[in-house]
Amino acid sequence: MGSHKGQEGLREQYKFGDSTTAETRLVTVARVFEPSSRAFLQRHAAPGASLAVDLGCGPGHSTRLLHEVVRPDRTLGLDRSASFLATASASALPGMLFRRHDVTVTPLPVEQPDILYARLLLSHLKEPVRMVRAWVAELTPGGSLLLDEVESVETSDETGRDYQKVVQSMLLDNGQRLDVGRLLTAASPAGAGRVRQELVTVRPTSRQVGLMFALNLRVWRSDPFLAARYSPDWLDGLQAELDRAAEGLRSLTVTWTMRQLALTR
Ligand SMILES: C[S@@+](CC[C@H](N)C(=O)[O-])C[C@H]1O[C@@H](n2cnc3c(N)ncnc32)[C@H](O)[C@@H]1O
Repeated sequence: MGSHKGQEGLREQYKFGDSTTAETRLVTVARVFEPSSRAFLQRHAAPGASLAVDLGCGPGHSTRLLHEVVRPDRTLGLDRSASFLATASASALPGMLFRRHDVTVTPLPVEQPDILYARLLLSHLKEPVRMVRAWVAELTPGGSLLLDEVESVETSDETGRDYQKVVQSMLLDNGQRLDVGRLLTAASPAGAGRVRQELVTVRPTSRQVGLMFALNLRVWRSDPFLAARYSPDWLDGLQAELDRAAEGLRSLTVTWTMRQLALTR
């Protein structure tokens, strides 16, 4: 593995947090997105890779999936969170490695990878299209950048819509957007040999939606942006409804559309 440059971004805050609450949420996220991500990797990850890299690997669920499906010699997970990486390393399979790195800093601290994978990462970056171009340039010739990102999150449920309003306003305030997939249609970089993309829908159960949303809202309650913009009573009411869904006491129907993009250098 090669050397890497400045890591100022390691200090920048990931809005969805890396507490144990945030980590618990990512267990449900992994269950919800596993089938669509697995199918995507099976369709587009060429066999025989030497090195596959999971960008923004979190506690390692997406890294394990990548490792199982692609079966490269080595799979490396990169993330900014030391606590997520500790969890990921503790349950690593042989051939899986983890390293702390701000993935917006290129060159990446690796020899040319055959596969770069990112799931649910670009909504948290300020310049997603620029990063896509920079990552393609990191690939070995013929290698692929596989992006598994949110195109839209739709619901007709009032609680679901209120929650979405909160997430979107918070991300926008931070120069990011949830529906980042919409930007990626224009992301095809000059020099990328082939671009294949699909939209797939994911429909979690009400309990799963409730759990993911309720845990996220708990993480953000201490965010000054939320405190300045929404009243404590309103946030308490939203939290209570999300908790009821998580406990199976009400329905909460939400549909994710994921943009899955394979860019081959
Ligand atoms: C929504 S989680 C997704 C985790 C994992 N890919 C999965 O699907 O389970 C986003 C992850 O990106 C990481 N992240 C966000 N910005 C990052 C950056 N600039 N460099 C490295 N990791 C970053 C966060 O720490 C978090 O673990």
